[in-house]
Amino acid sequence: MTTNVTFQITPATRMANVSYAIRDLAVVADQIASQGHEILYLNIGDPCKFDFPTPPHMIEAVERAMRNGINGYGDSLGERSAVKAIRARAEANGFKNIQGIMVGMGSGEVIDNCLAALLNPGDNVLTPCPDYPLYGAVIGKIGAQPNSYFLDEENGWQPDLEDLASRINPRTKAILLINPNNPTGAVYSRETLERVADLARKHNLLILADEIYDHLVLDEECKHLSIATLAPDVPVITFNGLSKAYLAPGWRIGWAIATGPAEALHDYLEAVYRMLRARLSAPHPFMYAIAPALEGPQDHIEVARAKLRARRDVTVQWAAHAPNVSLVAPKGAFYAFPKLDINEDDKQFVTGLVQQKHVLCVNGSGFGQRPGTHHMRIVFLPQEDVLKQAYGKISEFITERYGK
Ligand SMILES: Cc1ncc(COP(=O)(O)O)c(C=O)c1O
Repeated sequence: MTTNVTFQITPATRMANVSYAIRDLAVVADQIASQGHEILYLNIGDPCKFDFPTPPHMIEAVERAMRNGINGYGDSLGERSAVKAIRARAEANGFKNIQGIMVGMGSGEVIDNCLAALLNPGDNVLTPCPDYPLYGAVIGKIGAQPNSYFLDEENGWQPDLEDLASRINPRTKAILLINPNNPTGAVYSRETLERVADLARKHNLLILADEIYDHLVLDEECKHLSIATLAPDVPVITFNGLSKAYLAPGWRIGWAIATGPAEALHDYLEAVYRMLRARLSAPHPFMYAIAPALEGPQDHIEVARAKLRARRDVTVQWAAHAPNVSLVAPKGAFYAFPKLDINEDDKQFVTGLVQQKHVLCVNGSGFGQRPGTHHMRIVFLPQEDVLKQAYGKISEFITERYGK
């Protein structure tokens, strides 16, 4: 049937604020792969695409749940044994004043609902720059504004606290911390966290603490600290889930823990719960993996950390010798955010890199960066031989493009 389309379905104007560089660049790579080239993927934070298998006891728990008929909708806020396990783990880690626990379709969905329940159009959230792009996308979708504060590359990518403080205004509702950080791999110091908590106290702000990489701290001498444990008097929503250290990102299971004074959080949490009830539940059988994950064997985490430490070291060694590259060594997660001394847009750089050398990284501008600086984000999940091959090609590309 032929149609004569004379009109267009137009997207909402606020969607102009929504982009996701990580997946946008994958479209370019797909075109190159379709021409028969093998791509080295250093672009996506999915451990299951590499040698990090999901722990079998978690798979068995989900399979058992499905066979036992757990295939209907679940509890909107989370299956009971899962919520109990999340609470027990949080309390063991020093969380006090727990006011609520919410399980969702990945931490991403809980983050989305927590922001939707918080912000009016025109409100803003202090978000890091560089940032994991989900936050800007969700805040833009709501019609609110990301209010970016800089992470300081000269100070190991810790938040620039003076910059952060200077950006607080009457429409600021929350401060977002991603610790350990995507895309920089930084792990925040106690002093940084205490000073952020002081700012939140002073200005009555909510803290959003994305701690999805908390188990993936790679240096023995570096310890992850949850800001909620340092500031039980401040309202904090801490996000976590099964996607990273528990190696099951495709199951889409994440959660949030609300801590702080009950009176301060009551109305807000009721609003979050209404959102969660409206969307019915997280995937029911997969919620049955949460308690086994948190309470069962944890050996796979040490195995993952050891692999990541070696891969991080290969990355740092390459960066130390690569032309036009400097890198603050990542201490956690599986990301590196090297600075590029180049005189072109970093999107042009990574596009050229995938077109000519078939190595896929993401441009720093996709995460945000200080004006005038250029970066790229590397995911160091692949095995060392793949990383070495990719890094060799990146160095070659830089030398060919810019000379020695
Ligand atoms: C900092 C950060 N937060 C949240 C997410 C989303 O994770 P989930 O799979 O739990 O939605 C990611 C995924 O890469 C992430 O890097």
